[in-house]
Amino acid sequence: MTSPVKTWEFTLPLDPAATEPLFLQIARGISGDIERGRLTAGSRLPGTRRLAAQLEVHRNTVVAAYAELIAEGWLAATRASGTFVADVTPMRSQARRVPRARARTPGFDPGRPGEHLPTADPLADGVLQMGGGIADLRLLPLATIGRRYRQVLQRNAADVLGYGHAQGHPRLLSALAAMLNDRRGLAIDNTQILVTQGTQMALDLVANTLVTPGDIVLVEALGYAPAWAVFRRYGAQIMTVALDDQGIDTDEIARIAATRRIRAVYTTPHHQYPTTSIMSPARRLALLTLAAEHRFAIIEDDYDHEFHYDGQPVLPLASRDTQAVVVYLGTLAKLLAPGFRIGYIVAPSALIDRLTAYRLMVDRQGDLPLQLTIAGLLEDGTIARHARRARKVYAARRDWLIASLQRALGSAVAYARPPGGMAIWTGVATDIDADAWVTAALAQNVAIRAGRSYAYDGHYRPYIRLGFASLDEQELALGVRRLARALKQIR
Ligand SMILES: Cc1ncc(COP(=O)(O)O)c(C=O)c1O
Repeated sequence: MTSPVKTWEFTLPLDPAATEPLFLQIARGISGDIERGRLTAGSRLPGTRRLAAQLEVHRNTVVAAYAELIAEGWLAATRASGTFVADVTPMRSQARRVPRARARTPGFDPGRPGEHLPTADPLADGVLQMGGGIADLRLLPLATIGRRYRQVLQRNAADVLGYGHAQGHPRLLSALAAMLNDRRGLAIDNTQILVTQGTQMALDLVANTLVTPGDIVLVEALGYAPAWAVFRRYGAQIMTVALDDQGIDTDEIARIAATRRIRAVYTTPHHQYPTTSIMSPARRLALLTLAAEHRFAIIEDDYDHEFHYDGQPVLPLASRDTQAVVVYLGTLAKLLAPGFRIGYIVAPSALIDRLTAYRLMVDRQGDLPLQLTIAGLLEDGTIARHARRARKVYAARRDWLIASLQRALGSAVAYARPPGGMAIWTGVATDIDADAWVTAALAQNVAIRAGRSYAYDGHYRPYIRLGFASLDEQELALGVRRLARALKQIR
């Protein structure tokens, strides 16, 4: 991360005609920034020469401003290393403390005590992100997407710029339904699909609709924490189910169902997150049968369906759902990019109506210009072509990463070649501490994640997860070199 000092630009509105001398204007500007929290204790101020040049004033004017601020206690100076924001915000802030505090904490009760809210990961500069299933945005047909978007605004402005289509733009509903029917074996019409702002919103709407406090929701023992957070927020009692290379253990689900009422099972059967294992046909059948028997919902998260390299993608549980027990979630986050917030829920029409009603309350409608753009790109085959191209590239990267791992890490790691997905679930040798490796790797500027971070129980797992899709061959080679260096340090 760049230090705030380097990026901090003074935008002081100096007024040479004002009666207040320039040095005081500068001093007030800086103390104001400290008060607002824009400059924090310990931040280093630019040198007087640099700031003078930037503000186009005489250097002595800045020297006088700094001296004033040091005298007032806002700044501290050491001869060796320069001028810093002081630790204690002094004097006048006594009077201003109330408004400052108000800026940080609402004057009302902000939520439930003890509630644990998730935070977003910061993106660090210069760190190779090798942790997960991220798409390579450099492969996107951006010119085509841009052209389509412009066309939509030119030709369909009246249709997409007003209020309407809470369920999603009808053309996108049709295009998604056609894709799902053609490519994923579903048999749906527009009434069975709702467009959301990505899977995350879909999960929220589904949990809001299905879960009442105390309901049991089963999740895979290793899985997708952002989904767990949503179920917990609606009061679900989460229970974990073991998984292996055949996917979630349906015998265990049967045992639980024998004594407890299950409300829903959240699962990633295609490329299980994070292990990428594929749920076996027998377990698929068992899960559908159990759901029909015990009347629980299967929330199927099929987040990277297209990225299957060996043979055809496995059709979703939703394609075999004769009993209306599956709620199917998809996203364009992997197929295109997470920044295009387009996801969808496929469910029986009556449920879609309720989900749409909730959607209206939180978001009114989606981003219609984007939705119609995406509809056009689905209709004209752009997205299918992109999927084919990205699939080829990712398959080659998977093989390249495996070859590099073999060369550089040998028996330190063990994995099966994943037939699909965007990452390799990699076992580590018994004498390696996966957590320590991850920490050492970050110090070498490569971000990976340890098995523990996917575990609901938070316990150690001797695994790391290595993403390959978003990095080209040179970057993967660099990542593996950094991993090898990190391993040397901890082994
Ligand atoms: C299991 C799983 N589901 C869904 C998503 C995509 O979420 P969204 O569509 O909200 O970006 C991801 C992305 O990392 C994922 O790993």
